[in-house]
Order: sequence, then structure tokens, then C-alpha cells
Amino acid sequence: MLEKVIILDFGSQTTQLIARRLRELNVYCEIVPYNKFPENTSNIIGVILSGSPFSVNDSEAFKPDLSSVRGKYPVLGICYGAQYLAYSSGGKVEKGNSREYGRARLTPVDRNDSLMKNLDENVQVWMSHGDTITVLPENFAVVANTKDVEVAAYRIEGEKTWGVQFHPEVYHTEIGMTVLDNFLNICSAKKDWTPASFIETTIDKLKKQLGDDKVILALSGGVDSSVSAVLLNKAIGKNLTCVFVDNGLLRKNEFGKVIDDYKHLGLNVLGIDAKAYFYEKLAGVKEPERKRKIIGKGFIDIFEQEARKLKDVKWLAQGTIYPDVIESLSITGTVIKSHHNVGGLPEKMNLKLVEPLRLLFKDEVRKVGRELGMEEHLIKRHPFPGPGLGVRILGDITPEKVRMLQDADDIFISGLREWDLYDKVWQAGVILLPVNSVGVMGDERTYENAVALRAVTSTDAMTADWAPLPYEFLAKISNEIINKVRGVNRVVYDISSKPPSTIEWE
Ligand code: XMP
Repeated sequence: MLEKVIILDFGSQTTQLIARRLRELNVYCEIVPYNKFPENTSNIIGVILSGSPFSVNDSEAFKPDLSSVRGKYPVLGICYGAQYLAYSSGGKVEKGNSREYGRARLTPVDRNDSLMKNLDENVQVWMSHGDTITVLPENFAVVANTKDVEVAAYRIEGEKTWGVQFHPEVYHTEIGMTVLDNFLNICSAKKDWTPASFIETTIDKLKKQLGDDKVILALSGGVDSSVSAVLLNKAIGKNLTCVFVDNGLLRKNEFGKVIDDYKHLGLNVLGIDAKAYFYEKLAGVKEPERKRKIIGKGFIDIFEQEARKLKDVKWLAQGTIYPDVIESLSITGTVIKSHHNVGGLPEKMNLKLVEPLRLLFKDEVRKVGRELGMEEHLIKRHPFPGPGLGVRILGDITPEKVRMLQDADDIFISGLREWDLYDKVWQAGVILLPVNSVGVMGDERTYENAVALRAVTSTDAMTADWAPLPYEFLAKISNEIINKVRGVNRVVYDISSKPPSTIEWE
């Protein structure tokens, strides 16, 4: 059975990073809210408590009962997790001084400690807490310190429980992977979670879950839904029908290209032209969240309609991946935005959901795709949002605006390919701004639309930076767009990073 580590999420921004690092060490893990320890515990090999935006001394801090994990599994508390373990056993946590922020040098004091194995002295770690443990409970022993923090790491005697006040999951902690690997050894992890093992267990699981049921899959043309389709095709073959909807918000010529691409994968694909339906529902709607909800609901309506035609379809498959799940369901209750394939689902849906990639990060999905033998151009395709150009046309959507944006976007993306820049950026696109600006063409004054070019680098879309594209390239694209795309007379380049911005503008 697939072994896993459970990460109890106390709301830290780096919780997902912990998961990524464990996966890099070939161990499967799942993030669950701090108070939702799974009931089925048969394959859990260890538990990690994440950091938190709160101090343990705050009245609104998360303080779950840890009796179902402490002493039962190896436990690693990180930052707040470490402080809460100490605090809830009678230790003292107090405001530290500012020197405890950022880089610090760690030195193990107990070299025989299993968590401190293979660590040199004076190694760089990253601290990000305002609090620090000042008094340890009786059976806690310090295993590492820094110049300013006496209890940089501790062990609880008589249990397989450790706490570290630094963040082993961030890149700035040089020995972070060693510490996490040491913890996994304490958990006796087999470290056999690989794309191939994921494929095998997922196909098995899908076969059991779906039996002889019919499934309809929402293909978007992107890597996530394509990999989902190939996995499902392997699991249930003819019982899978893929539906690719033209919602009128796709890239230029995308519909035909995608249908062609899927031929070689042996998938059964139904293409539906629903442009008119979406344009009608979206007419006059300006508010981004409402647009997302309408587009999400539109997809589901179309799928349900097709499912009814196919008769006896029980399941809707989607290419939802982990960042969509995490961003939509934050534990502090703040929804960043509703990704249409998670938060925007109507409450009453007549199809059950199957999401084979729900717990994978994007780079893991690509590895699985390669392992499944999919063509490289499909795997390397940039991410494209479910609501498509709908969230790149700021303000209301009309077919004319879609035409303008498709033409501009096509020039930008084709240019990236020609200049060999496509694979160097995580994703790119053009945004149609809801402003007109004055220009001059020939002898005439123009008053037309401005567009923004967006290209970012990233590893998982959780954070992103604007891509430093060459000036000559930007100049050429700008010229070409303004000369060729009717209705556009100005091009700007977006130089915002995420956070605090997001990749999409809406
Ligand atoms: P943001 O704009 O939140 O985007 O930085 C992160 C990544 O998610 C994509 N994205 C979406 N994907 N449905 C999707 O399937 C959506 O509603 C959606 N919104 C954003 C975005 O393109 C980027 O890759």
C-alpha cells in the first residue's frame, strides 16, 4: 500500500513547499487542515506540523488536540509546529528579537541525534518567526542551536517527536533536504514514490473506483486534462468519452489543433461548439468572479447535456491539480480565487467527480505524462486557465474583443516559439485592457485598445516572476501587434511578480 506522510497545515505560506520537498525525496504526502487528521490511518508513516501566520500566544491561534498523533507516529514540528508542541506540553514561547529573522547559522549539539545526522557545524538555515521557545518542557532536549536561538531544534525523549524552529523546506536552508531526509528515515520511509508507481497505483484505484461506469472527461487541451485522459483511458478504455468544448474563449485555432493532437493518443474525443451559448451568458458581465462562475457553470451545463446524450454516464473527470485545490480551499477561510474546476462547481451536480491528478504538482504531472509516452509538445504546453481568454479580457466580453485578443496572443506565442523562448517561460499570454489610448497612425489620430503582454517564470505557479524577455523581441512583437491587429494601438509589458500580483489579471 502507498505509504504517506501527513502534513497538518496551520496556515503557513510554505506548507506546500514541505509537500514538494517530500515528493522530491520520493515520498508521497498529503496536506490536511490542522484539525482534520485522517480517520483512515493504515498507511500513514509520519506527521509534520507546519508553520502558521499566528503566534501560539494569539487568542485565534490554531490549537488542536495532538493526542492522536504524538507518540503514535514520528512527528516533526516546523516553526509554529515546533512552538506549539512545546507550548502545549507546558513550555514557554515568547516574542523573540529581530535578529531571529532570516538567515542564521545552525550548529547541532547532539551529533548522535537521528534528525541531526550528517549535518556540519555552522550551516545556513532560514528562520522566519517572531516568537521563540524560551523554556522547554522537562522531557525535551535541545539538539541544535544558533547564535541567537538556543532551542533551534529539539527532541522529545521517549517519543519519535522533533521540533525545528527554522524552515527546512525553503531553499535558503542549505541542509533542509538533509533534515527532511533524516526525518523520513526515522519514519522508515521506503521512498519508492515515483511517476511509474503513481501511474500503477492510480490506474488500479481508478479501476476499482469506476468499475464498469461510464465517465465523461473535460478536455481543455492542457497537460493536466490530457494526462488525466490518458490515465483514465488506460484504466477504463471505451467507457471514457472526452469532451472538448469550444467556449469561444480559446486561443486562435486552438480547437482544431487540439482535436488533431488527441488523435495519436487513441482517445475518444467529442468536440462541441458552444461559442454562442457562452457569449450569451457572459454578455455585459464585468465582475471577474462572476465571469469565472458563469464560465464554470457553462462547462458543467454542457457536460451534463452531453452526458445525458451518451446515456448512463455517472462520472465527470477533470484535470484538477494540487495548487488549484490548495488555493481554493485555504484553511484560514480566505478564498484567493475560485478556480473553475474546484470552487466554482455548482452545488447540485448530477455527475460524481473523479480527479486523478488532484494531489500532484505541475512538474509531477509532466513527469507522469512523459512516463505515459505522451508527445513532448503536449507535455511542454504552457498552462492556460480554465476560463481561458475570459479572464484576460478585462471587463465585459464580446466576440470582437475575443477576436482582437486571439490575434494579438497568436502573434506573441508564435513569436516566443520562433525566438526559442517558449520553453524558457512558464506561461505567457496577452491581456486586453479596458482602456483606450490615443495614438497616431499615418496622418490619423487613433483612439484604440491597449494590450499587456504577460510572460512569467515559475516552477509551480504558486510564486512567479516576470520573464526578462529580450528588448528586441518585445519591440518586434509590439510592432507586429500594433500593425496587424485591428483595434489595438498600444502594447505594454507586465513587470509584476507573484506575490503580490497573480499570473492572470483577473
Ligand atoms: P494566478 O493568476 O492565480 O494563476 O497566479 C496561477 C495559475 O493558475 C492558472 N489559473 C487557472 N487555471 N482555472 C484553471 O484551470 C482557473 O480558473 C484559473 N485561474 C488561474 C493560471 O493561468 C496560472 O497558471
